[in-house]
This record gives sequence, structure tokens and C-alpha cells, in this order.
Amino acid sequence: MTELISAERIAKRIKTLARKINKDYKGKKPIFIGVLNGSFILIADLVREIKVDCEIDFVKLSSYGDEKISSGQVKLLKELNCEIKGRDILVVEDIIDSGLSASFIRKLILKEKPESLRFVTLLYKKDICKIDFEIDYIGFNIGNEFVIGYGLDFAQKYRNLKAVYVLKG
Ligand code: IMP
Ligand code: MG
Repeated sequence: MTELISAERIAKRIKTLARKINKDYKGKKPIFIGVLNGSFILIADLVREIKVDCEIDFVKLSSYGDEKISSGQVKLLKELNCEIKGRDILVVEDIIDSGLSASFIRKLILKEKPESLRFVTLLYKKDICKIDFEIDYIGFNIGNEFVIGYGLDFAQKYRNLKAVYVLKG
């Protein structure tokens, strides 16, 4: 595997994103919703840079199984446990690839009538992503390569790595 984004670059970028979020949500009380499992490290690092009052919840989705390519089907494995209605929601994703999971969560949340809904993602595969809405806070745009580390797995391995790597082979 080869390093794509170092731990230092990730930390710096998260601080920058958090500064923007702190500014954009001044006087508000957003709910950060982490998409499990991949976003657990990002959300932990991100919310510790957040200065506005906030709440944190998680949903769990599955679409990949142990494969590198999406099965094309998203399943909800853990539902939301918070009241969305009238709240400012920030969904936190590890990576947006096909955009299928993000679209699925977007529909799920919009049904509950939030005040606002935005997305944060560490990594964005812009060229292959097919979505018709904006991703508001992007850590890094990357190409069409399968990456691991910093929460991202291949067959549940490598989530614990501090940097992001391209998995070869
Ligand atoms: P999407 O629905 O295709 O956008 O992908 C959603 C989920 O698939 C992400 O939240 C990740 O958990 C996983 N995923 C997508 N691309 C990668 C990758 O390159 N490495 C590891 N996991 C990935
Ligand atoms: Mg995953």
C-alpha cells in the first residue's frame, strides 16, 4: 500500500473544515450524524474542534460487504435515535464514492423535516460520484482508487491506520 494523505495533512484539513463549520453554525446547535463504521475517527477528530453547542448521533449503513465495489444496495443497520425535525443536521461521512449512501441518508433525513442538512466528508471521489446535491465540506478530492485507513476499511481491516493509503491489488 502507498500513502496518499498523511496524518498531518488530515489533521490540518480537519481544523480548517471545523473553523468553517464553527463560523457557519455560530449561534446554532447542530446535530452531527456519523455514518458508521467508517466515519468514527473523522467525527471524533472533527467534533473536538467544534466550538458551538452540538449533539452527536450515528446511523449505520451497509452496502459493500467485503467487496471493493458497491453492491448497489444500501441497508440501514442502525437507525437514528435523535429528533431531526427543525434541527440543523450535519452528516459526517468517511468517503463519498458512488454517492449511493449519501443519497440514501439524505432522503431518510429530509423525510423528518430538518431545518437544514449539510454533508461533511473526508474524501470525495468527485469524478465518479453521481449525486444531484452539493457536498458542503470536503476534506480531499481523490481519484477513482480504493483507499484505506483513518476509519476506512477493506474487509473490516486497516481502519486503525493514521493516514490514508491506496490499497493496491
Ligand atoms: P458510496 O455509497 O459508493 O458513496 O460509498 C459509501 C461507503 O462505501 C463509504 O461510506 C465507505 O464506507 C465505503 N467506501 C467507498 N469507497 C471506499 C474506498 O475507497 N475505501 C474504503 N471504503 C470505501
Ligand atoms: Mg465501509
